[in-house]
Amino acid sequence: MSDTRANRKYRSQEWFDNPNNPGMTALYMERYLNQEYTRGELQGERPIIGIAQTGSDISPCNKIHVFLMDRIKAGIRDAGGVPMEFPVHPIQETGKRPTAALDRNLAYLSLVEVLHGYPIDGVVLTTGCDKTTPAMLMGAATADLPAIALNGGPMLDGWWNGRLVGSGTVVWESRRLLSEGKIDVEEFMSRVAASAPSLGHCNSMGTASTMNAMAEALGMSLTSCSAIPAPFRERMNMAYETGRRIVAMVEEDLKPSDILTREAFENAIIVNSAIGGSTNAPPHLQAVARHAGVDLHVTDWQKVGFEVPLLVNMQPAGKYLGESFYRAGGVPAVMGELASAGRLHGGAMTVTGKTMAENLQGWASRDTEVIKTYAEPMRPNAGFLVLSGNLFDSALMKTSVISADFRARFLSDPGKEGIYEARAIVFEGPEDYHDRINDPELDINENDILFIRGVGCVGYPGSAEVVNMQPPDALIRAGINHLPTVGDGRQSGTSESPSILNASPESVVGGGLAYLKTGDRVRLNLNDSTLNALVDDAEWQARKDAWTAPDIRSQTPWQEIYRKTVGQLADGGCIELATAYHKV
Ligand code: FES
Ligand code: MG
Repeated sequence: MSDTRANRKYRSQEWFDNPNNPGMTALYMERYLNQEYTRGELQGERPIIGIAQTGSDISPCNKIHVFLMDRIKAGIRDAGGVPMEFPVHPIQETGKRPTAALDRNLAYLSLVEVLHGYPIDGVVLTTGCDKTTPAMLMGAATADLPAIALNGGPMLDGWWNGRLVGSGTVVWESRRLLSEGKIDVEEFMSRVAASAPSLGHCNSMGTASTMNAMAEALGMSLTSCSAIPAPFRERMNMAYETGRRIVAMVEEDLKPSDILTREAFENAIIVNSAIGGSTNAPPHLQAVARHAGVDLHVTDWQKVGFEVPLLVNMQPAGKYLGESFYRAGGVPAVMGELASAGRLHGGAMTVTGKTMAENLQGWASRDTEVIKTYAEPMRPNAGFLVLSGNLFDSALMKTSVISADFRARFLSDPGKEGIYEARAIVFEGPEDYHDRINDPELDINENDILFIRGVGCVGYPGSAEVVNMQPPDALIRAGINHLPTVGDGRQSGTSESPSILNASPESVVGGGLAYLKTGDRVRLNLNDSTLNALVDDAEWQARKDAWTAPDIRSQTPWQEIYRKTVGQLADGGCIELATAYHKV
């Protein structure tokens, strides 16, 4: 009797329904039969739906998924599927040393291995905290089994003394107040704790809300999924509907490769500008694109996204938090405004089985104080600039957070608008920055530019969110809250600092930042998107010739494996060899 794959309805039958090898089939089935499943369910009556669980006690941003699980499973069961929950390596942004970013590729690897090696026909990806979302999308792109993203939703809005305090954003503000001596550590704690009033991920437009908006903009989650606050009843309903929908996706054989197209990524870039999204989105989307085999380049962020206006009035670029954003319509309302202006690829396929244009029918802003119309935005040209020069091949600058004060102080010299020349102060990583930022010998003044290096993917494994460096305490007390900062690391998506970051290649692999010295003059020119050290060529070459790579010690086996296999932020910080695998 022939037993080709064509005879089978579901992939899971390769394990559980092999008439040529009944002994092996019995072995595969025995322990699964030992719990809630019947033979028929495992042997092809129903598709088996994996649920990739990213929530746990150690990952509180995603813990809501522990409570959503019943609804996800109910949806899967009601639609005729068999749910199988499995754990994913945790990634808690605020808990993992040295960086949570280090674990994105580890969670990716483990997801690919589970999807490849177990009898799974389709998968629900639970997402939320910053790196959990790209890790799940990257894994789904590699495995290319039917997959749908469900985030846990943002926390409720945080309030402190009658005003909104947003995740992360309150931390940066409170740190300045602490440096100025205006608050004590107790008040610092209270303000920060007040910003996190419930389960859920960050309630500002930091990396978590951004990446879940990206999942929706890519077409990988149900319409309106990403902005529903975690404790709302709609979140429970969305969990149920997501469970129902993945079963249909398996029957339709609707896979990530049908959804993750170049058009989908362009839609996501455009949405990122309109929401004032995180500077972490480019490396994460680049990684998803590479694992999906889609041609995307870091310069696409400026080409496709720069001229898109900022529509969403949400911290850190604006005022409000997640609850208001959801009530104003969330991501589909933003996308509805963009679609009406002709800015989106409406034909992009989505997990609903319909195109993006079909999903967005009838969607527009429900509150133009929170989601502006395309004609009357918060500000025009809100995307990223992609800078280059002798210090790096590429680095990003988030223009939607450049304040009027910052622009006036640094970028408004008559006749030289957008151009800034200054002295460089160079720090070797965050420890060196903290040791020396208040050192009187450095004599940092309000015209200097702060640089930090050694904090890219290889240097500070994963790449550290440290480029938004605070000026010395003395300058803050004098009212200087921001200096221009540059680095080969990243910064938190909740920071309102217009840093120049994600510089690639990073210094420890010989990128140009490695040759900069404190006291060098540098020129930033936003008109042609360049940043250059004003050091003459012979001197620059001599420094290059004299440079040797730093001796880097890893603390764990994974750090060493990561450092040996990772690429640069501009290329998504992927495990380079993994990008060759597709459809496992
Ligand atoms: Fe986990 Fe922001 S720290 S979502
Ligand atoms: Mg973050």
